Amino acid sequence: MRHLMSPLDFSVEELDKLLDLAHDIELHPEKYAHACDGKKLATLFYEPSTRTRLSFEAAMLNLGGNIFGFSSAASSSASKGESVSDTIRMISCYADICAMRHPKEGAPMVASAVSSIPVINAGDGGHQHPTQTLTDLLTIRSLKGRLDHFTIGLCGDLKFGRTVHSLVRALARYEGVRFIFISPEELKVPEYIKEDVLEAQGIPFREVERIEDVMPELDILYMTRVQKERFFNEEDYVRLKDFYILNNRKMKLAKDDMIVMHPLPRVNEISVEVDKDPRAAYFRQVQYGVYVRMALILTLLEVNVC
Ligand code: NCD
Repeated sequence: MRHLMSPLDFSVEELDKLLDLAHDIELHPEKYAHACDGKKLATLFYEPSTRTRLSFEAAMLNLGGNIFGFSSAASSSASKGESVSDTIRMISCYADICAMRHPKEGAPMVASAVSSIPVINAGDGGHQHPTQTLTDLLTIRSLKGRLDHFTIGLCGDLKFGRTVHSLVRALARYEGVRFIFISPEELKVPEYIKEDVLEAQGIPFREVERIEDVMPELDILYMTRVQKERFFNEEDYVRLKDFYILNNRKMKLAKDDMIVMHPLPRVNEISVEVDKDPRAAYFRQVQYGVYVRMALILTLLEVNVC
């Protein structure tokens, strides 16, 4: 039985297969409409979510399966002091597969150690968010036609942004990917990612503060929200939250075929005027998230559709 804790749990070849499956689902959804008849997905969300939880649920419903779960720690027995390990032992009796989001780094990993059903990490603290990364990879492959040889700028909260941490690890495995990290000093990408992932493999990266300086070089701009819930004090958050605001004036500096991605939710970091720009890909990204989660559920449940 397989779980998904990190995007690196799949080899590059396995990822290719998963993305191919997601693409086939996009083209022929009817083929998959009953693939999970009678199967149940549990969504165990100890932290707020809109897209991730609902896209998992939409994915399972599109496959003909059923869903149940909780959407906050307060509405589960965690509020009575139940451990994640005890909860998952029980859920294993009710469901065939589960997706878990938790504010503590490593909680889904603890769950997977005692679970008798596949556990999917749907975001653990500031650590990883592998299914957002699968979404991002499918978006890039679908819109740019490849996963290699491009320059990606990641902008905003690179310190606490788990989507960034997972995406950098995943993209580091493809040839010719250059990273430009755009952040204020306080929100720089963690040293362990620079040292263990990028420097260790000789992957080129740069760190800058001004988005305007690098805009013309980018093939992809990946914007992120300042992660309010992971700040220790309100004052720092208020000072940093509007550090970057992408608007039409800045978009003029970019290539005609650059794409703008964002895991969402957006707060102020992308002005709504940019939504009309054909290079804005963040809402299309949401749709790819459903296809890829369908492909992931089929893969982990070992369901083959001919
Ligand atoms: C992200 C997350 O939860 O890390 N959202 C998501 O799942 N699409 C990004 C964020 O909250 O800023």
